[in-house]
Amino acid sequence: MEKFYLTTPIYYPSGKFHIGTAYTEVLADFIKKYKKLQGFDTFLLTGVDEHGQKIEDKAKDDGKEPKEYVDIQANIAVELWKKLKIDYDKFIRTTDDYHVKAVQKIFEKFLSQGDIYKGEYEGWYCKPCESYFTETQLIDGKCPDCGREVSKMKEEAYFFNMKKYADRLLKYYEDNPEFIKPEFRKNEMINNFIKPGLEDLCVTRTSFSWGIQVPSDPKHVIYVWLDALTNYITALGYTSENEELYNRFWPADLHIVGKDIARFHLIYWPIFLMALDIPLPKTILVHNWFTMKDGKMSKSKGNVIYPEQLMERYGLDATKYYLLREIPVATDGMFTPESFVERYNSDLCNDLSNLLNRTISMINKYFKGNVPQYNGTPNDVDKELEESAENTVVTFEKYMKDYEIANAIQSIWTFVSRTNKYIDETQPWSLAKEVDDNDLKEKNQEKLSSTIYHLTANLKQIAIMIRPFMTHTSDEILRQLGIDNNVSWENLKNYKELENLKVIEKGEPIFMRLNQEEEIEYIKGLMKK
Ligand code: MSP
Repeated sequence: MEKFYLTTPIYYPSGKFHIGTAYTEVLADFIKKYKKLQGFDTFLLTGVDEHGQKIEDKAKDDGKEPKEYVDIQANIAVELWKKLKIDYDKFIRTTDDYHVKAVQKIFEKFLSQGDIYKGEYEGWYCKPCESYFTETQLIDGKCPDCGREVSKMKEEAYFFNMKKYADRLLKYYEDNPEFIKPEFRKNEMINNFIKPGLEDLCVTRTSFSWGIQVPSDPKHVIYVWLDALTNYITALGYTSENEELYNRFWPADLHIVGKDIARFHLIYWPIFLMALDIPLPKTILVHNWFTMKDGKMSKSKGNVIYPEQLMERYGLDATKYYLLREIPVATDGMFTPESFVERYNSDLCNDLSNLLNRTISMINKYFKGNVPQYNGTPNDVDKELEESAENTVVTFEKYMKDYEIANAIQSIWTFVSRTNKYIDETQPWSLAKEVDDNDLKEKNQEKLSSTIYHLTANLKQIAIMIRPFMTHTSDEILRQLGIDNNVSWENLKNYKELENLKVIEKGEPIFMRLNQEEEIEYIKGLMKK
């Protein structure tokens, strides 16, 4: 079985995750479930990034020891992923013992082969903030965080020789067009960071202690990004006594990261891997952000919305549908209460839920609940519909191959609309009318059977395609149609395979129309809380 290993970033554990942060995880979960449905042996890694000064400070603010603090925070992520039904295979914590040991081995290896060297870090230091700043970061020559005086300081630190790998990295970009998606991110890296000259990276700190110690020089702790990035291999047991998972799954097929952390993943991470002399991931997908009308979503601005809030009122599937449909991946998407309610009412209720409802009720009305068999040759309308079913799968797969997620989902909804239009074109209610002419009666009956058969077949296709991100809805559609939910992506190829189906007696709406004004106000209220 072919494997597919994908990862999300490991999250900073400090408080609840808003829908922006949850987006990366929902996206990864969708891709994993899609690959799984296609028969891949999948492995999804997620976790938390627990070291560094920021966490140490937060713990202090909370009056806790760092470890005590991260134990509580890590659980917030675990609980949220449970609610969002994220199907991850491993949850790594960078305080896990195996990870700490592996990072130390990696650091010492870099040191012994000369990729890491000891030097001096020089910059403007703010004592109360315990932070270094560059000249350009200062505001009026003072600390940009607290506004106090800063002083020029030097301290002993270790550096990673990035310059040595710059040409190799450029060549790798060139030779591997699948490596970075979307492509414009590659040009950003080249023009903004690599061409102007890569700086060596300071990979240790002595100003705080909450991190992984350098074994050969314990007053230094390892820079949080060197620690964090390696999670993608340490989680698989790299350098441990059991490297089975590593041997099976590395190199990763897909790393998914937000645009703010692109540089770390597209420059430092590949260089670390080159220095370790192990293969690079096949693709790194950089997604854009969810923003709000007043700009960036942030807790301090008080304009955030949490996934639980949407899920509790509108259900998990509607929440995931909205998140995935609304960010085009390569450009930012904006969360607005208006667009949420609009998508719910129009895409989910009017288009999808009504299609199922109309179909079930016609099967009950005209065929006593039994989906009619259809062996005839398709007429022009039916033929066009069958082609559209086939093309939808091809289009969806093509978009998914390039990780154009919103477009992939949109292609399913184009098919939903096409199917609704088919009902208007074929007018089953007219076909079902009593006719005096026997010949005509028979013809109409045949057409009616064909129409109902095609509607059922289309709904089955739709249920399979939405399954990776709307699993409950998929189950519901299949249940109401009397189809076993033990389906796979392969079933999409057997369009005309509907055997003796009996649908439920009375269709149950899968999405109920929302009162637009009331719900918009409700969501606005959530955003103010
Ligand atoms: N700890 C680092 C990652 C280390 S990976 C080796 C980190 N953590 S984070 O918690 O700050 O961010 C996690 C993910 O959430 C990132 O992919 C980030 O881009 C994403 N998002 C945070 N806010 C977001 C939005 N408003 N919209 C979409 N994604 C957002 O970075």
